Order: sequence, then C-alpha cells, then structure tokens
Amino acid sequence: MDFTIRPSKPEDCKDITRLIMELAEYEKMPDQVKISHEELKRDGFCQNPFYQCLIAEVPERHKTKDGHVKVGFALFFYTYSTWKGRCVYLEDLYVMPELRGKGIGKALMSSVAKVGKEQHCARMQLAVLDWNTPSMDFYMAKGAQDLTQSEGWHFLRFDGAALDKLAEEAPKN
Ligand SMILES: CC(C)(COP(=O)(O)OP(=O)(O)OC[C@H]1O[C@@H](n2cnc3c(N)ncnc32)[C@H](O)[C@@H]1OP(=O)(O)O)[C@@H](O)C(=O)NCCC(=O)NCCS
Repeated sequence: MDFTIRPSKPEDCKDITRLIMELAEYEKMPDQVKISHEELKRDGFCQNPFYQCLIAEVPERHKTKDGHVKVGFALFFYTYSTWKGRCVYLEDLYVMPELRGKGIGKALMSSVAKVGKEQHCARMQLAVLDWNTPSMDFYMAKGAQDLTQSEGWHFLRFDGAALDKLAEEAPKN
C-alpha cells in the first residue's frame, strides 16, 4: 500500500490536533488534551522548535471513510542523558484504525529512529500505558526494553498546583 512519511508543516497542525485527540481517546484520557492547533503551530515552527513531527499521508484513493489522507503521526523531541548524551523521546505514535497493520506505524517509528541516529542519539525512549498490550507487543517485537521491568524506573510528573508550588519555592536571587 502506498503512503509517504514526511516532516510536518504548519498547515498540518489541525490534522495533528485531530490525531492527538484520537490517540487520547484510544488511551481513555481525552479530557487531558488541552493543546490547540495554534499552540502546536507556535511551538513546532518557531526558531527553536519544542518538537518535531512526521506525518503519514496516503494518496486520495486510500483516504479514510471520513475523507482523511493524513492518517498517522509521530511526534518527538530531543532529551539528554548524563550517561549516554543525546537521546530522542517519542512522545506520540498513532495510526488511524482503518490503516493499521499496513506498515505505517513501523515506518513512522523507524523514521524517527533514523532522524535520531542522524543527530547521533544513543537512545529512543517512550512511555506506554500498562494495559496497552498491542502497542507494548509492537514495541517489544521491534527490540524495545521495558525499563520498569528490567531496571525498576517509574515515570514521575509535576503539574498544576504541585508545579506552581515548587516554582514559587525557588530561591529569589
Ligand atoms: C501501535 C501502532 C502505531 C502500530 O501501527 P501499525 O501501522 O498498525 O503497525 P505496522 O503495520 O507498521 O506494524 C509493523 C510491524 O509490527 C508488527 N505488529 C503490529 N502490531 C503488533 C502487535 N500488536 N504485536 C506484535 N507485533 C505487531 C507487525 O506485524 C509488523 O511486523 P513486521 O515489520 O515484521 O511486518 C498502531 O497500532 C496504533 O496507532 N495503535 C493505537 C495507538 C497507540 O497505542 N499508540 C502507541 C502509544 S504508546
């Protein structure tokens, strides 16, 4: 089946927002999505972009029943390991249900790995929900390690009031 993987453009941000919402629905947390396409455009297409995104696009003849040709995306950014140096973090990987099982997800993920390797990244990391066994199996089949299992890492977050409080407690110079 024909499809292309290409870097996103500012005009893709409405479709990226749609795909982000579909992924959040799949992950059973649609209420958590607060991002707008304007914010995505601002943050991805500024002088020092906060993220990069690859789009999977199919020809018109393969468009979805709702008429979409932008059918998947991979959104990523760079992080840094004090042990290994440059790393790439795969924040989102998603393919619309109608187009799954045709190699698009693998093409998106390996394209992110290729971009990361070109930037001399030592690792590609990502998080997956514990019940999402189809995707866990997909990643494991491609050689990922489950760090919670093998090394005991937990994934932590500060946001909302906890983040506000922490920032307020910073020393004032
Ligand atoms: C995970 C996802 C991106 C995979 O995309 P896809 O286009 O369906 O996958 P592909 O067709 O590219 O599969 C590529 C390879 O993975 C294998 N694969 C796919 N799903 C698999 C599974 N559940 N278990 C094991 N292998 C799997 C395929 O057999 C294929 O193997 P091959 O390269 O040896 O032929 C897609 O299913 C998806 O969007 N899922 C819902 C959202 C999601 O969970 N995203 C990840 C959040 S962490």
